[in-house]
Amino acid sequence: MKRLRNYATLLALSLLLGVMVGITSYSVTLYRLFCQVTGANGTTQRVAAAVSAQLGRDVTVLFDTNVAPGLPWRFAPVQRSIKLRLGQDALVFFEAENLSNHDITGHAAFNVTPEKVGIYFKKIQCFCFTEEKLAAGAKVQMPVDFYVDPALALDPSTSDVHEITLSYTFFESKKPQGAPDLARFAAGPPDAAAGARLFAENCGACHALDRAKIGPPLAGVVGRRAGSVPLYPYSMALKFAGFNWDEARLDRWLADPQAELPGAQMPMKTPVAQARRDIIAYLKTTRAGS
Ligand code: HEC
Repeated sequence: MKRLRNYATLLALSLLLGVMVGITSYSVTLYRLFCQVTGANGTTQRVAAAVSAQLGRDVTVLFDTNVAPGLPWRFAPVQRSIKLRLGQDALVFFEAENLSNHDITGHAAFNVTPEKVGIYFKKIQCFCFTEEKLAAGAKVQMPVDFYVDPALALDPSTSDVHEITLSYTFFESKKPQGAPDLARFAAGPPDAAAGARLFAENCGACHALDRAKIGPPLAGVVGRRAGSVPLYPYSMALKFAGFNWDEARLDRWLADPQAELPGAQMPMKTPVAQARRDIIAYLKTTRAGS
């Protein structure tokens, strides 16, 4: 137990990084989804540019959100900030919730500060400017895929910039007809291949499929009794949980282990619903003893 806690402290920092990397790598799936939905053109080249771009200086991007008066939405960034290298492709999420009992169409405007870095802020995918419908009571997590152009490093006027703020404001739309539903971001089919990558990056530090690491082995965990791997030193909470893991249970556990099972000792939350869905799809493909 003590050892577990020591590891947990050490891992807390690397986890932060892990989550970011995990979320970043997830962008390919979402990006594909986006292309399927919108048929966006010319974006592939920009993605390639983002990947191959020179990696050098770090910048911290902070996220800020606002809702125009009269629009009954809650709108917040899932992560407060992210640190990344120039040219590095990053995927971040914003969460919107329609607090009213009727469908509402909104549109977002964004700005980047300091203003002089605006031209270096490249969005590959976002929900900006287009009309977006959010059903009564619905809540969605919307991806923004971006990078900061390495050319920023060559511009003497931006050499002092280490922090960039991306700020979004949602307004109620004046022309709601035919607006696509934001639910599309959550509605895609589960992607086990993306889940495998997310698992390696976000869970692999503590879990393997076929042997205990800091956490128990997870091959075949869907349908398995909670806390049941012989000799693994589970917390009391998990050991005596008394249920079998199913998809709904795993989803809640991954979102917030301590909320699902007070006293449990897994120190990692996965806030992005699509990421949880894909990781669970991947875990379902695994079998114990294989
Ligand atoms: C920092 C280490 C750490 C990370 C990262 C981590 N886990 Fe865990 N996990 C644990 C520990 C420790 C336990 C045992 C908790 C307990 O005994 O209360 C656990 C338990 C579990 C269990 C319960 C297994 C059982 O036998 O009942 C599941 C399922 C699980 N983790 C899935 C995941 C998934 C999926 C990820 C990645 C999204 C992940 N974990 C990331 C440490 C981690």
